Amino acid sequence: MYNLLKGKRGIIFGALNSNSIAWKVAERAHQEGATFTLTNTALALRLGELNALSESTNSKIIEADVTVMEDLHNLFTQTQEILGGKIDFILHSVGMSPNIRKNRPYMEMDYNFYQKTLDISALSLHKVLHTAYKLDALNDEASVIALTYIAAQRTFPDYTDMAEAKAMLESIVRSSGFHLGNHKKVRVNSISQSPTATTAGNGVSGFDAFIDYAEQMSPLGNASADECADYCVVMFSDLTKKVTMQNLFHDGGFSNTGVSKTVMNKFGEL
Ligand code: NAI
Repeated sequence: MYNLLKGKRGIIFGALNSNSIAWKVAERAHQEGATFTLTNTALALRLGELNALSESTNSKIIEADVTVMEDLHNLFTQTQEILGGKIDFILHSVGMSPNIRKNRPYMEMDYNFYQKTLDISALSLHKVLHTAYKLDALNDEASVIALTYIAAQRTFPDYTDMAEAKAMLESIVRSSGFHLGNHKKVRVNSISQSPTATTAGNGVSGFDAFIDYAEQMSPLGNASADECADYCVVMFSDLTKKVTMQNLFHDGGFSNTGVSKTVMNKFGEL
């Protein structure tokens, strides 16, 4: 390891179990010398798996619903007390769509669910950064990463309202990167990750076939959760101080591929 995050303090949202992308990021950030708190909902904490990560990374767990301002206030206040200073990095690895959970097709979405999707998966980033700003909880040159998916730019059959949530999330990344950059040279970026077998990913119907499709379309193959964690660590490190307001594709080349030979061959030999 390279000590890329030595002395840096962070908050990691969204580790649910060992498949979670945030789980892998926590493990890698710990290896690179960071200290951080882990946070998730009461429901996620009741499942109990996060305790193992807390022990292996020597980090405290603070319960917070990312949509509730009081929870976020408490999270930032407690984190600074526990870690002994302001925050250098934040991972927003949170997403949930009740419409997807309930298998509602795009043209039959429930609008209360829809608003919940946007609140949890997109607006929450603004709430997190608003709280950090109000409490002056971020250090100069802090780095914020939110995880997103290419459905923000292109339509996929069963991603329904998460597509809109990701488009909004990426817009909040740009706007908050602008304002926080001017304020304290804080950088804000999103990483657009390959489909990855996690609890959230598997909630999208036909996900296994979709992972195979993306794998065969991408010159480098799908990016794994571990590889995503590597990328997050680089983005939290001092090696990327001038990268901000970007949507960074971490997808093995999927986003710029029209069609691959492997996929074309399924329709007849080239
Ligand atoms: P995951 O299911 O392990 O993580 C999602 C997390 O969001 C869970 O820990 C869950 O408890 C948390 N969460 C849900 N509602 C919350 C709330 N109200 N307050 C706080 N936390 C809440 O799945 P995964 O895949 O690791 O997801 C992490 C991020 O990566 C999400 O933003 C997801 O959309 C994104 N992503 C995932 C891809 C995939 O194929 N798995 C591909 C591209 C992006």
